[in-house]
Amino acid sequence: MRNVYLITAFVCVAVVSLLGLRGTRFTAPPLDVFPEWAFPSMEFQPRPKPQGASRFFADGQADRRPVQHTVARGMLRDDDHLFLGRDSAGEFARGFPAAITVDPEFLQHGRERYAIYCAPCHSEVGDGNGITKRYGMGATPSYHDERLRTMPEGEIYNTITNGKNTMMPYADKLAPAERWAVVAYVRALQRAQMGKPADVTDAAARQTLGLP
Ligand code: HEC
Repeated sequence: MRNVYLITAFVCVAVVSLLGLRGTRFTAPPLDVFPEWAFPSMEFQPRPKPQGASRFFADGQADRRPVQHTVARGMLRDDDHLFLGRDSAGEFARGFPAAITVDPEFLQHGRERYAIYCAPCHSEVGDGNGITKRYGMGATPSYHDERLRTMPEGEIYNTITNGKNTMMPYADKLAPAERWAVVAYVRALQRAQMGKPADVTDAAARQTLGLP
């Protein structure tokens, strides 16, 4: 019998926690049950309002300018030549920027990023049959069309940076060097679909494939 109280209390807590507070947003500020000196609440910390006035600083502004020579993340000047993907005439550039070395590690990085950001639509092999196709994203092109196979690297880079029609831009998710890594991996995918027997140089692999 004495368990009845416990069970009732448990059921009440369970019901309230499961049903009562699901995603409820309060518009009124929370009640402060404990005194401010005992449990200081972040609500009441002294803070200037954006674009407000301040008597603390000599210029009377609450907003501070970034320290001189501050560089926004990923915007270091040194990276400038990576940003554009265009040649000196302003056309989409072929090949990779001089600062980029396409090695296995770089490709591997591109592969990871590709799997996260591109494969859902373009698919693991780049034929445009990613999972989103089943949900109605029909217009995803295959990388293995002549047009995309011969497209300059700079143009692929530009599509990643700025998006194209229904494809979102990825500039906020991939740093310039990462975009180039993805471009390199797209090239690898295209190459993989265009293999010729003469490309296999390893003797053991030739034997496995039954090549002379
Ligand atoms: C939400 C689905 C989606 C994702 C994710 C996506 N794409 Fe696309 N992509 C598209 C669609 C749709 C098009 C066709 C756009 C058009 O031409 O209308 C396209 C076009 C392209 C093209 C061809 C552009 C052209 O000029 O024809 C390239 C190259 C490309 N995507 C690369 C990528 C890369 C690399 C990633 C990952 C960083 C990526 N896409 C992520 C949907 C997607």
